[in-house]
Amino acid sequence: MVCLGNICRSPMAEGIFAKKIAQLEDWTVDSAGTIAMHAGDGPDHRAVKITRKYGVDISKQVARQFHPSDFERFDLIYVADRNNRDKLLQLANNQEQRDKVKLILEEVMPGSDADVPDPYYGGEEGFENVYRLLDEATDAILKRYVK
Ligand code: 4NP
Repeated sequence: MVCLGNICRSPMAEGIFAKKIAQLEDWTVDSAGTIAMHAGDGPDHRAVKITRKYGVDISKQVARQFHPSDFERFDLIYVADRNNRDKLLQLANNQEQRDKVKLILEEVMPGSDADVPDPYYGGEEGFENVYRLLDEATDAILKRYVK
């Protein structure tokens, strides 16, 4: 799960998906940001609060920057928006790596090119909206690959 800062959207996506795959032996999830600005920080307190409300604890996550080795460590790389997709596509070395990069909302709105809106500069309702979008998208991922 990849966003810009790895303190709002992708930590929420990681936490929501981690809870859903907890019983699945061959799945794992991690998250990263395309910028290093928040590396080492915990998630934004608003992201922690909203996810906690739904029984998801992301408080112990630590932000990190996406590393090109992630292209080899992971089979699927879900990005929050087109800007961050473009950054990863620039980092990719080959078509196999490029093919791993997907907009997460394509899972629920195929062909829409829809972004998960950046909630950083807004209010708590933006985080509620992000939670709902990511909950639906992670359900769709599971349905596609597992059930
Ligand atoms: P995120 O949100 O990409 O969902 O983690 C943001 C976090 C930090 C900044 C922007 C968006 N920032 O500009 O520092």
